[in-house]
Amino acid sequence: MNNEMARLQKCLNCVRKATSFVPKVAVVLGSGLGGFADHIRVAYEMSYHEIEDFPVSTVPGHEGKFIFGYVGDVPVVCMKGRVHYYEGYGMNEVVLPIRLMKLLGAEILVLTNAAGGVNPIFRAGDLMLIKDQISLFVPNPLVGENLDELGCRFPDMSAIYDRELQVLIREAASECNIVLQSGVYAQLSGPSYESPAEIRFLGKIGCDAVGMSTAVEAIAGKHMGMRICGVSCISNMAAGITDAALNHEEVQENAGRVGTQFCGLLITAIQRM
Ligand code: HPA
Repeated sequence: MNNEMARLQKCLNCVRKATSFVPKVAVVLGSGLGGFADHIRVAYEMSYHEIEDFPVSTVPGHEGKFIFGYVGDVPVVCMKGRVHYYEGYGMNEVVLPIRLMKLLGAEILVLTNAAGGVNPIFRAGDLMLIKDQISLFVPNPLVGENLDELGCRFPDMSAIYDRELQVLIREAASECNIVLQSGVYAQLSGPSYESPAEIRFLGKIGCDAVGMSTAVEAIAGKHMGMRICGVSCISNMAAGITDAALNHEEVQENAGRVGTQFCGLLITAIQRM
């Protein structure tokens, strides 16, 4: 067995020794959005530290654990905290949790993040449905020997974000009276925020929001045949769009401020998945 598969199998065995819970939906909570976890009817919690060889985050605000439980009647596994490429992990490690959640049974992947608004019509505090993505600025997580057990060598990315899930999220938003923007998410490596010139460039190539996660997770999920949807919380306008300087604490605070809306949207949507 390939090393990466062996590592994944080891993590899977470790989780399976602790719980037989089979999730339908996997949810990844972004920076400052961890409050959603309070709305899960918890069946079991497992700290990432308890899973042998599992990548563990070093960033404040990315407390690391899996929460297994129910949103309505829907069995979910929720990642509270994720690891990022900028922490020095390889892309294989960054996407390992996504692969693990699929092997645990999750068919649907709900990705969330805090992101900078590139589209000038956005405002800090907006929520954006991710329609498509640009991941040209970070290594592809599928580089290396293909894990044939997971998916094919050249997976199609022409519809990464599932159309039906997009409709479902839009309907949930209108029911919750939430104005939902939509657009293209670009992943850059970070950890520095972008320069104004970089943001102008991103705007010109069709990007609406920018962040440091998500796109590679979506690629790994799609490789394994997951149905994917994503919501960005526009925690700040990106560099140069306004005169404001950026810092991580403010980004987290702003993301936390729309937490109620964000939770309402996710709960309503996931109950129908
Ligand atoms: N740039 C990149 N990543 C981010 C930003 C940003 O402005 N805000 C939150 N995550």
